[in-house]
Parts: sequence; structure tokens; C-alpha cells
Amino acid sequence: MSINNNQEKLMTILARCKKDVPYFVEKMMGVKPTFQQKEILDMYLIHSRLVIVSGHGIGKSSALSWLIIHALLFTKEITVPCSAPTSAAIRDILFREVRKWVEKMPIYLKKQIEVTTKYIRWVDETGNPSANRTVLPKTAKVGQAQALAGMHSDVVLTLIDEASAVEPAIFEVLEGTLTGKNSRIILIGNPTVRAGYFYEASRDKTGLWKKLHFSSEDSPNVDMKWIREMEDKYGRESNIFKVRVLGEFPASGENTFMNAINLDSAYDREQEVHEGFQGKKLAGFDPARFGNDASALVIRSGFSIDYITQWRNKDLMESVGLIKQAYLEQAFEVIFIDVVGLGAGVYDRLKEIGIPCVAVNVSESTSSKEKYVRLRDELWDLGKIAFDEKRMSVNNKSISRKKFSELADELGVVRYDYQNGKLKIESKADLKKRGVQSPNLADAFLMTFANDLGISSVVQKAKAIPLHRGNGRGHILG
Ligand SMILES: Nc1ncnc2c1ncn2[C@@H]1O[C@H](COP(=O)(O)OP(=O)(O)O)[C@@H](O)[C@H]1O
Ligand SMILES: [Mg+2]
Repeated sequence: MSINNNQEKLMTILARCKKDVPYFVEKMMGVKPTFQQKEILDMYLIHSRLVIVSGHGIGKSSALSWLIIHALLFTKEITVPCSAPTSAAIRDILFREVRKWVEKMPIYLKKQIEVTTKYIRWVDETGNPSANRTVLPKTAKVGQAQALAGMHSDVVLTLIDEASAVEPAIFEVLEGTLTGKNSRIILIGNPTVRAGYFYEASRDKTGLWKKLHFSSEDSPNVDMKWIREMEDKYGRESNIFKVRVLGEFPASGENTFMNAINLDSAYDREQEVHEGFQGKKLAGFDPARFGNDASALVIRSGFSIDYITQWRNKDLMESVGLIKQAYLEQAFEVIFIDVVGLGAGVYDRLKEIGIPCVAVNVSESTSSKEKYVRLRDELWDLGKIAFDEKRMSVNNKSISRKKFSELADELGVVRYDYQNGKLKIESKADLKKRGVQSPNLADAFLMTFANDLGISSVVQKAKAIPLHRGNGRGHILG
């Protein structure tokens, strides 16, 4: 009798799970969706087209992973094409979340979901997989996007994570999958780009799309400390705060030097683009001592950013110690130091202990005097070109998206001007005036482009030596 009772109870619970996704998540995975996630899960059953524009960390990818699991368990025939800017993003973020939550379910549900790196699918009680209940990762790589077109399932649930950064080509093909009466689509993302399919969907006035908007400030899933840091660093009015925290599309017409789209997309650029390219491993350092400023160290191998770190409240000798540690652990070939001000001491000491280093004086004029006011402006321009020409990528195995966005946001906030026809990048003093903290990571990163200008110092003496002009391009100590 009691077995039957239990059976019956379970059937009742499962019947409710089918209709009530937040209940399913809480009951079967033991996690309480935030009110924002609950809204996503509820709306999904009501609206066939959902566009969700949101700040960082509110639990977007987890909400999608819950929908995936729910869809596979409770829909008889369903295909779930899912996409994100790259296949790695799908595997490492979305599939990982699915795996994480599947593990938390009771065994009789867990064994119904099979997660591999290539697909996620439903398997029946006898362990047979079903070809009619699968999740297929789709990226806009040539050929793959086309494959989206030929899907014939009763129900198609298309999920797009980080939709702002997904290639336009994929959306063209997706339109074709939305014709069936049981087709659903969810676009979700951080609104980095004021253009494209995601942006247009979020501005839809025809009622085709149900729109949700979430600020990180309202999410119990987001650390308030991070929000305060972003506010202190960029100000509430900045585009960066708007996009990352408030989940609002950037205001147009801001006179920033670097292109936000090109900066952001570097993270998602597949690393194989650079396969076979053996770039030198270069480090850049921007020094600080005590107070608000941080010392920053960035390393790139060729055009791949490998390592990003910063520290506060260390004296210069402690900073030298940390650079030495990075030298031993990361094995960079040479480090470029900004020697205007504090950096000279760091440079002298590094030279003394035998770490290959180059002094860069960003306030000197450049080889291209007709184009740039100072070397600093030329370094910023070289950095911009590397992103604009889509050469820059990020080692996203070792650097999180959040970490990279610290660098990208600093690069993206700085404005520019022309002075007698020459490029002039906004000074730190001017940044400070409009409430933006010193872009230390950006400066450290740009230091490495001194290499591309052929700036290299010939180390001779370990004494502090006044800077003088070098080969006309560089700023050589020696
Ligand atoms: N309701 C929740 N309760 C506890 N942890 C959660 C919840 N939602 C998400 N998480 C966890 O918080 C982290 C960030 O969530 P994620 O979905 O990656 O955020 P987003 O995609 O919005 O940046 C992940 O580790 C995720 O598993
Ligand atoms: Mg996410």
C-alpha cells in the first residue's frame, strides 16, 4: 500500500513539476531560483519569444540550463538548438551548468539525462537514448549554422546565451526554425552592442517578443561588493556601469577611443585562429604604491592575452618580488615598465636581479610625430588596431570573462581627441575629473606594444640613470 501511496505522491509531484518550472528546480535540484530567474522560468511557458536583457551574474546561464533539463524530461519530442558566441562558450558555460544541476537531481531523474561535450540528450528507463529529445550546440561557424535549418521536431526550443555577441549569420538561419507552431526562442545576454538581432528584439514594438530586463543591483545572486567597485571605478553614468550592472544598452555617441564590440568579442574569439603562431611572451607593468591605485601586470603571447593581475598597497620592492614570481611561473621573455614616476625604481631593481626588462617613457614623443602627441597615444593606437583587426584573443581557459572585462572595460572607457591634427588619448588627470579611476590594467597591457615599436633597452648599468631619447622611436635607458 505504502509503495502505491509513494508512487502516487511522486506522480503528483512530477505532474506539478511539468507545469511549474520554478517548483521543479527547487524540488528536484534543491536550489531556489531568484525572483528574476523565476520570472524567466514562468514566462518561458507562456511566451514563445522571450528576450532577456540583463546585467552580469544574475544567473542567466543557470536559468537556461534548468530550462534545458526541464524540456528534456517533460517534452516527448523536442530539439533544443542552443548557441553562444563560440562552441567553447556553450561547452564550458552552458553544458557545465547543465551537468552541475543534473548531478543534484534524484537518481531516477539524473539517469534520464546524458551530458557529453557534443550533445545533451534524454535516455529512457532502459538506457536507450532518444534522437528526438536532444540539445545540440550550434555556432555560426560555416556549415554549422546551415545545419540548424534542417530540424524536424514537434517542438523546437532555441536558446541563445550571451546573445549580444552571437554572429548575425546564426540569427538569419534561426528565423527558419521559428515557423513551427511549437517553436520557442529565448535570447538572453548582457547588452554590450547597440545593434544586431538581440538589440532589435529588445526594442520590438509589435508585441512579437516578451521582454524582460534585469539589473544586477536587484539580484540576490550578485555580490554587492562588485557593484560598489564598478560604481567607484566608472561612475553610475558610465556606459560600462550601464551595460555590466544595470543591464542597459550603452548610450550612443560617447567619444571613446576603442570599440566596445571589438574589445568584447576578443574573449570569444576561438584560440585556434592563432594556432601555429608563436608570438613572444611579453609582460607589461604599470606601477603604483599606496592608496587608491593598483599595480597592474598583464602578459600576452603574441596576440593572445594570457595573464591579468593587479595588487594594491605594496611597496616597490614587494612589487618587484611579485613580478619575479610571475617571471618564474609564467616565463615571460621580457617585461616593459612604465618608468614615468614610480616605475624607474622597479626597473632598476629588476635589472639588478637579472629579469629582462625594458624601460618605457610614455611621455616622450614618438617616431610618428605627425600622428601622435606622445608615445602613450601611439601605444593606445597599436592596442586599438590589434582589437579592431580582430587579432586579439584571450586565453579563456585561464582568464575568466569577468577578469577580462576588467581590462576591456578600462580600455573601453578612455576617450580621445585631436591636438594639431595629432591623436591625443584622454589623460589620467582628465579621467579623474570625470570620476574614472586610473586604467592600470589597460596601461600595463599597452606597455607590451612598445615591443612592436622596437623599443628595447640595452642594459648596461644598474644605477638610476636619467632617461634620454633613444633611437628616435624608443626611450632607452642605458
Ligand atoms: N538561484 C541560484 N542559487 C544559487 N546559485 C545560483 C543560482 N543561480 C545561479 N547560481 C550560480 O551562480 C553562478 C553565476 O550564475 P550564471 O548563471 O553563470 O550567471 P550569468 O549567466 O547571469 O552571468 C553560477 O555558479 C551558478 O551556478
Ligand atoms: Mg552567463
